Amino acid sequence: MTDPVRHWVRSASRIAVLTGAGMSAESGVPTFRDAQTGLWAKFDPQQLATEHAFRANPKMVWDWYAFRRDLIAKVEPNAGHRALAAFSRRHPGRLTLITQNVDGLHQRAGSEGALALHGNIFEDKWLDTPGACCNADAAVADTPPYCGRCGNLLRPAVVWFGEALPARALAAAEAAANECDVMLVVGTSGVVYPAAGLARTAAGKVVIINPEPTELDDAADAVLRGRAAQLLPLLLED
Ligand code: OAD
Repeated sequence: MTDPVRHWVRSASRIAVLTGAGMSAESGVPTFRDAQTGLWAKFDPQQLATEHAFRANPKMVWDWYAFRRDLIAKVEPNAGHRALAAFSRRHPGRLTLITQNVDGLHQRAGSEGALALHGNIFEDKWLDTPGACCNADAAVADTPPYCGRCGNLLRPAVVWFGEALPARALAAAEAAANECDVMLVVGTSGVVYPAAGLARTAAGKVVIINPEPTELDDAADAVLRGRAAQLLPLLLED
């Protein structure tokens, strides 16, 4: 089954790759919708990843992201991340990498131009529009840190449910989808829009790489039931 897809990839001038949490599963990062472990098992990530939840309980939401930051800081990019970065190095300008992941593993593997649609878990930003007094370097160290003058809180620089995606990254991702000959859709359940919509508007062949069924399988020209770290190196070798 990988043979026709390998052929599509080899003959494509423009390849778009859309990745989700499953991309990092083999690095040891639990996927977004996987049962959470330990202290956090009873919380639904979808309930925590909102501005409403942060305003209601900033300490709890900050602690949850701190827990995920600590976990991600300890893992390494896997063979799938590395295969994507190596392909881009060998073929400059041919592959556009679009990711819903906030873990930075594509960037750590060397994929410099990755379009991070949902932000970066290792960066912070102000919850409310910052005033002249808001200086992140001088924030009062607390959980979460805050501006000692006006009380504005720092929050993780990720896109929460109900928030807009970074406009420039989304526009570039849409352009890549509109122009691609092949789109690889890797490790995403395909339930969160607008990211999932990119697979539905892709101009070229759509290939799903996922061990489980996804909401995007009906839009696919090929579905490869396998793991990212195993299949991407096979599909992307010259
Ligand atoms: P999900 O947790 O919804 O889905 C993870 C997908 O990865 C599932 O379809 C799994 O079957 C698949 N998977 C698991 N292991 C895999 C492996 N080794 N190789 C390939 N696939 C594997 O994560 P996303 O689809 O990324 O956004 O979720 C999308 C967004 O929902 C996230 O970016 C997050 C959340 O809202 C924000 O936080 C803004």
